[in-house]
Amino acid sequence: MSQNAPQKSISASDILARKGGVPLVCLTAYTTPVAQLADAECDLVLVGDSVGMVLHGLPSTLQVTMEMMVLHGKAVARGLRRALMVVDLPFGSYEESPEQAFRNAARLMAETGAGAVKLEGGQHMAATIRFLVERGIPVMAHIGLTPQGVNALGGYRVQGRGADAERIRADARAVAEAGAFSVVLEKVPAALADTITAEVPIPTVGIGASAGCDGQILVIDDMLGLFDAFKPKFVKRYAHLAEDAAGAIRAYAEEVRDRAFPGPEHVFGDEESKK
Ligand code: KIV
Repeated sequence: MSQNAPQKSISASDILARKGGVPLVCLTAYTTPVAQLADAECDLVLVGDSVGMVLHGLPSTLQVTMEMMVLHGKAVARGLRRALMVVDLPFGSYEESPEQAFRNAARLMAETGAGAVKLEGGQHMAATIRFLVERGIPVMAHIGLTPQGVNALGGYRVQGRGADAERIRADARAVAEAGAFSVVLEKVPAALADTITAEVPIPTVGIGASAGCDGQILVIDDMLGLFDAFKPKFVKRYAHLAEDAAGAIRAYAEEVRDRAFPGPEHVFGDEESKK
C-alpha cells in the first residue's frame, strides 16, 4: 500500500472485533489539534464529558450540556482521519427515557459525525442501550465509577469491592447483552476487571481498572500533565506540560519586563526593520 493511501476509519464493529486481540489504545480529546495528535496512535478517541472539568473549569461533569458536546465533537471530528470518534451523552440527556436518549444521541451523531455515543450506567440503562442499538446508534457503555453519579455514589471512589462485585458483573453482562459494542470499566479492582473481561463478549476498556482489560483509556490532559486541579491516583503522567507551559510563560514575562523581547530586527534583519 502506498504511504499516502487514505486510511480507512475505524468503526464500532471494528472495535468489537478486537475483543481479546491487540489492546485498544483510547484517549479523550476535545479540540482539533489534540485530536490530530491522538489520531496518530489511537483506535478510539472519546469526546468525554470530562471536557467540562478539564477545559471549562466546572466542578463536575454534571453541568456539561448538549451544546458543549456538539461544539467539542465538531472540533475533534476535524482532527480525526482514522480513530473511531465516540461522544459522551451528557448528564440529563438520556436517563429519562429511551426516546430522550435516541433524540439526543441522534443529534450528537448527526451534528458531529461521531461513529458512536457513550452513556453511563449498567443494568438500569440496558433497555436504553438496546433501543439505541436497534435504531442504528452504536453504544459504548460505562460502568463501575460513573462520574455523572458522583452524588449518589458519595464521591469518586473505587466501585465493586467485596459483595458489590456482583453488581458490577451483572452490569457488564447487561450492557453486553443489550448490544453495547464495548464497555468502559472505571475504578474497579483489577481482579474484578479481569473476571469481567473474561466473562463478556465485548471489549472492556479500563481506566483505573486492570492492564488485563481489552484496552485502556485516559483523559488526555491528565496523562500529559496539563490538568492539575484533580489527579486520580491511577493516572500515570507521560509528560508535564503544565509545568513546561508555566516555565515558558515565566521566560516570556521576564523577557518582556527586561525589554529583551525580540523586536522586528529579529524577523526582518537590522536594516529592513529601520525602514
Ligand atoms: O468523560 C470522560 O473523559 C470519560 C473517560 C474518563 C472514560 O468518560
